[in-house]
Amino acid sequence: MNIRHWVRPEVLDMAGYQPGEQPDAARPFIKLNTNENPFNPPPAVLQAWADALDFGRLRLYPEPSARPVREAAAAAYGIDAAQILVGNGSDDLLTILLRTFVAPGECVAVPEPTYSLYHSLAQLQGGRFVGVPWDQAWQLPVAGLLASAPKLLIIARPNAPTGHAVPLPLVAELCQRTTGVVVLDEAYVDFADDNGLALLRDHANLILIRTFSKSMAMAGLRIGLAFGPVALLEQMHKVRDSYNVNRLSQVAAVAALEHLADYQPFLQTIRHERQALTVALRQRGFEVLDSQANFVLARVPPGHGGGRWWLETLRAAGILVRYFGNDPSLVDHLRITIGRPEEMVRLLEEVDRVLHG
Ligand SMILES: Cc1ncc(COP(=O)(O)O)c(C=O)c1O
Repeated sequence: MNIRHWVRPEVLDMAGYQPGEQPDAARPFIKLNTNENPFNPPPAVLQAWADALDFGRLRLYPEPSARPVREAAAAAYGIDAAQILVGNGSDDLLTILLRTFVAPGECVAVPEPTYSLYHSLAQLQGGRFVGVPWDQAWQLPVAGLLASAPKLLIIARPNAPTGHAVPLPLVAELCQRTTGVVVLDEAYVDFADDNGLALLRDHANLILIRTFSKSMAMAGLRIGLAFGPVALLEQMHKVRDSYNVNRLSQVAAVAALEHLADYQPFLQTIRHERQALTVALRQRGFEVLDSQANFVLARVPPGHGGGRWWLETLRAAGILVRYFGNDPSLVDHLRITIGRPEEMVRLLEEVDRVLHG
């Protein structure tokens, strides 16, 4: 029997999302490839985890809707707990969104380049994926996005892998002009100057998603939050796994939400290092976009190898960065996560060695 007989055509046809490399812990790479936080969570958060963990209770299922997390997030962000849905990372929330709102054949529109998981999930759902190039100067292509009458529009703000953040009034305009649902993916928003929370008050078709994987240094625990109108979240609850957030992660997320202020010094350092790296790479001939996230997108200088060559050269020197070789618009670009100050020094030393021998 041919495998084509068994597997859904949508699955056969999709390439599948390619996550960044997670090397063996024994190998001492400087890891600048998957936008994790280079700092551990603040000591008060680690202590709260240690105090709250009760391994004996792991034989019991977790609270199905992660109510403790929703309540802690409601207090932290000043919205109602009913307006919050918790996911096993924000990738889980994206899966839930696609499954809730996109029927086979319906359109999902995104500006591109962006987070490529959106495409994979739309394919999996049998949706029609429309990637609209960003307008000049990375502006939101409002007309282009609306042209295909999408059922779901997804805007990453700040965007990955560019790091830029479109103006919030354009997001509001999109919400007003579309008949579909708008998802604002705020995975990197804690590194940005502003966020879209206030837009929720005015738009019944807007859902925000956030993650604890980046700013909160909890990528290994898999926690994401969706904020949105109760009527939409009620439908999403029906779609998610009954126990989609495990007990340990719920405990950890509550502790992090109760100590949000303790993260500020770390976030400030990352913003500072982002600016310093942008300047330093520009001085060395890289073209670097201004970023509002915890990474920068840099076009490598001419006259040496291309993007893949830089990726491999840095890897050989023990530094992992991200390269999106199968996107023609990103050839010769590297996405570099902001690491600890000493890691940025090592990166620049290696860049100098490449450039000047
Ligand atoms: C734009 C964007 N959204 C969502 C995610 C997923 O984050 P997680 O599933 O770890 O919450 C990522 C991760 O790289 C991302 O870049």
